[in-house]
Amino acid sequence: MQSAKRLFDVDPWKIATSTLDKKNRRLQESLTSIGNGYMGMRGNFEEQYSGDHHLGTYLAGVWYPDKTRVGWWKNGYPDYFGKVINAVNFIAMDIYINGQAVDLATCDYEDFYMELDMQDGILSRQFTISIDDTKVKFSFQRFLSIAKKELAFIRLDAKVLVGNATLEIHSKLDNFVHNEDSNYDEMFWEKLSSGTDKNYRYLTTRTVPNQFGIEQFTVTAAMRHNLIPDQTTTSELSVSDEFIFELKTDETIHLEKEVLIVTSRDVCSDQQEQKIAQLFQTYGNDYNALKTEQIKAWRKRWELADVIIEGNDVAQQGIRFNLFQLFSTYYGEDERLNIGPKGFTGEKYGGATYWDTEAYAVPLYLALAKPKVTRNLLTYRHNQLPQAKINAQKQGLKGALYPMVTFTGIECHNEWEITFEEIHRNGAIAYAIYNYTNYTGDTSYLKKEGLEVLTEISRFWADRVHYSTRKQKYMIHGVTGPNEYENNVNNNWYTNQMAVWVLTYTLESYHKFQTEATVTISEVEQKQWQAIIANMYFPEDEELGIFVQHDTFLDKELKPVSDLDQNELPINQHWSWDKVLRSCFIKQADVLQGLYFLGDHFTLEEKERNFDFYEPMTVHESSLSACVHAILAAELGKEKKAVEMYERTARLDLDNYNNDTEDGLHVTSMTGSWLAIVQGFAQMKTFDDSLSFAPFLPKSWQAYAFHVNYRGRLLAIRVDQEKVTITLLSGPALSVKLYQQQQLLEDTLTFPIQTK
Ligand code: BGC
Repeated sequence: MQSAKRLFDVDPWKIATSTLDKKNRRLQESLTSIGNGYMGMRGNFEEQYSGDHHLGTYLAGVWYPDKTRVGWWKNGYPDYFGKVINAVNFIAMDIYINGQAVDLATCDYEDFYMELDMQDGILSRQFTISIDDTKVKFSFQRFLSIAKKELAFIRLDAKVLVGNATLEIHSKLDNFVHNEDSNYDEMFWEKLSSGTDKNYRYLTTRTVPNQFGIEQFTVTAAMRHNLIPDQTTTSELSVSDEFIFELKTDETIHLEKEVLIVTSRDVCSDQQEQKIAQLFQTYGNDYNALKTEQIKAWRKRWELADVIIEGNDVAQQGIRFNLFQLFSTYYGEDERLNIGPKGFTGEKYGGATYWDTEAYAVPLYLALAKPKVTRNLLTYRHNQLPQAKINAQKQGLKGALYPMVTFTGIECHNEWEITFEEIHRNGAIAYAIYNYTNYTGDTSYLKKEGLEVLTEISRFWADRVHYSTRKQKYMIHGVTGPNEYENNVNNNWYTNQMAVWVLTYTLESYHKFQTEATVTISEVEQKQWQAIIANMYFPEDEELGIFVQHDTFLDKELKPVSDLDQNELPINQHWSWDKVLRSCFIKQADVLQGLYFLGDHFTLEEKERNFDFYEPMTVHESSLSACVHAILAAELGKEKKAVEMYERTARLDLDNYNNDTEDGLHVTSMTGSWLAIVQGFAQMKTFDDSLSFAPFLPKSWQAYAFHVNYRGRLLAIRVDQEKVTITLLSGPALSVKLYQQQQLLEDTLTFPIQTK
């Protein structure tokens, strides 16, 4: 539900506010998160803050296997719950005026202003504090460099406005941090060493040993300031440079803190201190130069990625916020990494890899990055094929079962029905191989690694189905579909569809590339797979003309969300789990997810009947839901619904629709607003090696424009009230279908806009 009051001002490029909302501090922190793909943090304050908040800094790929907490252990449960852990708080600068702590939770303050500049990747804040007869104005600026991944910079300016002040600043590297979601309240860090060079201090810590054989990570954090500290104090897990200034009215100070973070993912633990020394030297300490470099790098990203919406700043801010946070989490530089659902902005979902990447992120990265980025995401899964086979073996099954939640390929989430039973993820992981191959036209991955993955996934499906002699059909029982508000269901239509689709695509690809393939699929297997393809059971209802979500869905008490008391939404925060499970209410696209993925297999009438049946029962309490509905609604000419769903996906976090953004942002669903515009409003389709558009313009917008990379070309698309313009910015001419008409795009194509 949309919050009554917007937490931040509406601005096309900024997330800004003059209000410190102490009640919603966690929410403000989530929304002012920053990251550079290598590290990131919630929008915590530099100085101490005693009000409710959630301190969180996270380093990509630095995680810990937390001991599982379940009531009754059963065979097949994952051993541990993997999570990206809270790491060294390096922005910390405790401040004291005349011995009293500067703490916005308790002090008198005025002129508060906070601003996340998305165009430049800079977070800034200012406020004036009154303590006794003294007034001091503070301004902070902070950025995590996307040009130099190990580098963060914090700059503090303070000016005494009234009185005399003894200003004390303790600038720290503080590793005394814990995870709020730690199962047993354990600390995950231990100290290895700390030290002082003439210019900087460092602290090296390591994750504590674990019983699961997972590697321990070592992290060295270092800081240097533009001023010489009066003293340095070191304790078990922190190092503090302490500065004391005696200031009179109108006097100012200017403190710069340059931070470097190096982890054992890149540099062996015994070489980290050396690496830090070398990086300090190479990177230099010119704040302005490094800031200019940051601004340039972000602007370059925007040149390609920006989606311009004219005439609606609310919609504009939404998509820019999403793209900013998405690229702050992942820009494809490190092939060992993936895209965690909360990125660097919170702990829930633990920064692990989910099906979200393949289902929602891949199409965006295909269009807005080099093909190599998506290929890296595919390679990530290929590298984890041996572990996926272990996951299947643990369930007594053949082939590969990719995990729902993972770091290494081994399943590491301890929710059974909601997470583990969602074997549909195997379908999305296979689908991404199709998506990459079909979008780029590059078959080199499919032929080798792709077929290896597809074959093992197919083997899993072939073993996971059973034959019902009564119905003479193959079935898949005991699953959870994408709709997590029903568990352990039989014959989830979407899961059965995807299983058959994977078997079909694997066989087709195998026959095409058999001579080059590195796998062999025996005749016996091929026959068995054909039999499953031909005889899979799909629940359908002829009278309603719909595909049925699972065997007993239609026996439920069916009613629309509009019949619910709106105060009971979101239902997951108001109802018992029992009530949620018994209800007909759908968390996110389920049958409709299948109609979206396999859009070319179904008619518009089929799509419409199912959309009209399921959408009214959908509560969209997963952030991943609205975009699929926006895309289908747009295709069906349901403009109002499409725009409503766009707004929901684009501003899900900014307007806290699901009342859960205080835990962190929904980063993987941030692709949703882009998908809604590009695949929805512009109806960009890429099935069967061809590219087509059939755009419409929402009534409340004047125009929108975006870029896509497609098969070695860069295209610019602009849709305004009169026309659609497609420009080939680079690459060879290309055949494009526009409103069903095939055209050769050599330079620019202009078409009058059509309305449905
Ligand atoms: C959704 C899942 C998703 C997970 C992580 C859940 O709320 O239901 O589909 O994978 O969040 O984003």
